[in-house]
Amino acid sequence: MAPRKIIIDTDPGQDDAVAILLALASPQEIEVLGITAVAGNVPLALTQKNARMVCELAGKPETLVFAGCDAPLRRKLTTAEHVHGKTGLDGPTLPDPTMPLQQAHAVDFIIDTLRGHDPKTVTLCPVGPLTNIATALRKAPDIADRIQEIVLMGGAYFEVGNITPTAEFNIYVDPEAAGIVFACGAPLTVMPLDVTHKALVTAKRNAAFRALNSPVGDAVALMTEFYERFDREKYGTDGAPLHDPCVAAYLIRPELFSGRFINVEIETSSDLTLGMTVADWWGVSDRAPNATFMGQVDSDGFFALLTERLGRL
Ligand code: RIB
Ligand code: CA
Repeated sequence: MAPRKIIIDTDPGQDDAVAILLALASPQEIEVLGITAVAGNVPLALTQKNARMVCELAGKPETLVFAGCDAPLRRKLTTAEHVHGKTGLDGPTLPDPTMPLQQAHAVDFIIDTLRGHDPKTVTLCPVGPLTNIATALRKAPDIADRIQEIVLMGGAYFEVGNITPTAEFNIYVDPEAAGIVFACGAPLTVMPLDVTHKALVTAKRNAAFRALNSPVGDAVALMTEFYERFDREKYGTDGAPLHDPCVAAYLIRPELFSGRFINVEIETSSDLTLGMTVADWWGVSDRAPNATFMGQVDSDGFFALLTERLGRL
């Protein structure tokens, strides 16, 4: 089967970095047409730089990396240095990138790529705030029907919020953008905290990264050791949740995940619940389903896949 053509929209972020590595390590299943950086975990100047550093760590300096939106559609940017450190990639010491940043704006790359490929042949994989995707949809509404699938990391239902009591970070940073994406009509698959909090980098799993005896394995071990502090302190979990790599793993082995096709709406007005993904998991509303909202992951299978693929880089 031909590899899936994707654009990764990202705010690296250690877990974004692992998602990019997993995608770049899997050319039989995934063709990365480009990586578009967005402001999120850290400001855009850092997310676009971090994206390039990760591509070079993967040994793929030919990857096309674009800078996108530096602030949410309507709100002040909220960042997450308290989780990811001031660089966004704290943990390993990686060299500054030498590969170029593409001149085109990320939003134009998304639009041009969707218009330049046959309809329904390009998948968008946002793993940060949805500002770039929403801006592309507003600038070129025709692209909505051309998207094969949007597979995103964001939201939460049973797990509730990680940045507020009710909201997950990616959705919270730009709830208006999330509202546009969730209403755009493209096939939508959502990896919420309900799933990603089951993908924990335990000490044993971290040791498996180190046992790869490679710069990639060591860097991933250092990344996850750094950012697990936040979740250990907050949730008492055994290790860092690998949020964003769930998106790449789904493209390679979808059977690792299960969920429901339900209605998911975004809270954009209440200050109390701003950015909440109101997931109708029990089908109690008459709102039409618009997203496959994942609830379960085979975490051993996920880590076996991830570790094997990282070993290829
Ligand atoms: O809430 C987790 C999400 O927010 C992940 O994508 C992480 O990288 C941050 O962007
Ligand atoms: Ca992210």
